[in-house]
Amino acid sequence: MAGLPDSLSGQDVGFVSLSSSVGNLSFAYLTIKDRIPQILTKVIDTLHRHKSEFFEKHGEKGMEAEKKAISLLSKLRNELQTDKPIVPLVEKFVDTDIWNQYLEYQQSLLNESDGKPRWFLSPWLFVECYMYRRIHEAIIQSPPIDDFDVFKESKDQNFFESQQSIIALCTYLQELMKTIEDLEDNQLKDEFFKVLQISLWGNKCDLSLSGGDTSSQKTNIISSLEDLKPFILVNDMERLWSLLSNCKKTRERASITRVDIILDNSGFELITDLVLADFLLSSKLATEIHFYGKTIPWFVSDTTIHDFNWLIKQLKHSNHKWMSKCGVNWENHIKMGRWVYLDHMFWTLPHEFSAMSQVAPDLHAELQKAHLILFKGDLNYRKLTGDRKWEFTIPFHQALNGFHPAPLCSIRTLKAEVQVGLQPGQAEQLSASDPSWMTSGKYGIFQFDGPL
Ligand code: F6P
Ligand code: MG
Repeated sequence: MAGLPDSLSGQDVGFVSLSSSVGNLSFAYLTIKDRIPQILTKVIDTLHRHKSEFFEKHGEKGMEAEKKAISLLSKLRNELQTDKPIVPLVEKFVDTDIWNQYLEYQQSLLNESDGKPRWFLSPWLFVECYMYRRIHEAIIQSPPIDDFDVFKESKDQNFFESQQSIIALCTYLQELMKTIEDLEDNQLKDEFFKVLQISLWGNKCDLSLSGGDTSSQKTNIISSLEDLKPFILVNDMERLWSLLSNCKKTRERASITRVDIILDNSGFELITDLVLADFLLSSKLATEIHFYGKTIPWFVSDTTIHDFNWLIKQLKHSNHKWMSKCGVNWENHIKMGRWVYLDHMFWTLPHEFSAMSQVAPDLHAELQKAHLILFKGDLNYRKLTGDRKWEFTIPFHQALNGFHPAPLCSIRTLKAEVQVGLQPGQAEQLSASDPSWMTSGKYGIFQFDGPL
């Protein structure tokens, strides 16, 4: 069927699933059993707490909508906790048909006797994405509060709680700007590696791993970079440097070097990504940045256009000189078209990225125009690799299963039991010394795929 994952180049590598044996509960299983219900409970609580706001804005209709959304979400939590069949989406939205088609495909993978896909018997990636899509369905079924972002409060809190680290980053960036034109090549490269690592560790701050609880950056990340280096398991930063510095050297006047950043979390991580993006422009390693965010609230902390604009405005109006300077500069990048923010429904579908050329050919064609694509975060990594049970030493290129729109790099802290491209013995050593290395967010990678 069009738009559904093809077989994996003749390989039968299974999806990461929820199955677990007693005494050996998988991370995927625990996510759906514990973390997701916790997130749902928080969402319900958030709606409760905004009751009077809904009333002030919409009167009785707002109160009724709040009740409706809560009842739909309670039903969803019950379906999940009692392992009911996964039901098609009902509310007509741009992606509804694609979702329901994907659900049919999941059903076709089951034996006749297995009946319908169920919460605890389906691939993890699918179930987790479906859960966030159902939260969105509950909200859009409840006008007039159908544009309410149930995660906004937590995202904003993450930003406010990370203030000191944000100030440190903005100050660092503005100081760097003063001398950037005079830096020798090797100095520029050192700074490039620094901003890359800042963006990597920014990915520790997602709010889904913490079950929706606060997860902000309280310490100055720049002073921790040296200590964190041993935790980088795959380090292709050199390859990023040679690609972009080559583009810079060979670029004709007026031609462009475009870097696309597939964003992940709002709040502190977004600041680190914008610092990286600003550095790329100022260093002339790139001339244009395209950012991609989510069209609907997703995995608690993922960035939407509202978060993106809100954050830049917060900086601009800050009392801190360097924070506000960053806000002003970044707004200017947008105005001048050097920074472009885009979204596409594909990013909130359950499909792995190897299906992009079939499901979203327009997006795929757009990404092909980039000189480099940076994929931030863990969920993007799971989608890049199809969330399969790959052997740890399988090359990244192979796990991408034909997805190569342009040279690309995953910048991710490990928060799921999927990792490829390691050295023989590396995973075994890690498992012996730190059994939770794949899911704690303590380790990170820069994993590149592109011409040598
Ligand atoms: O809930 C599980 C998960 O998909 C993990 O893989 C990860 O903890 C989180 O959600 C998303 O992480 P990120 O924001 O880095 O994509
Ligand atoms: Mg995220």
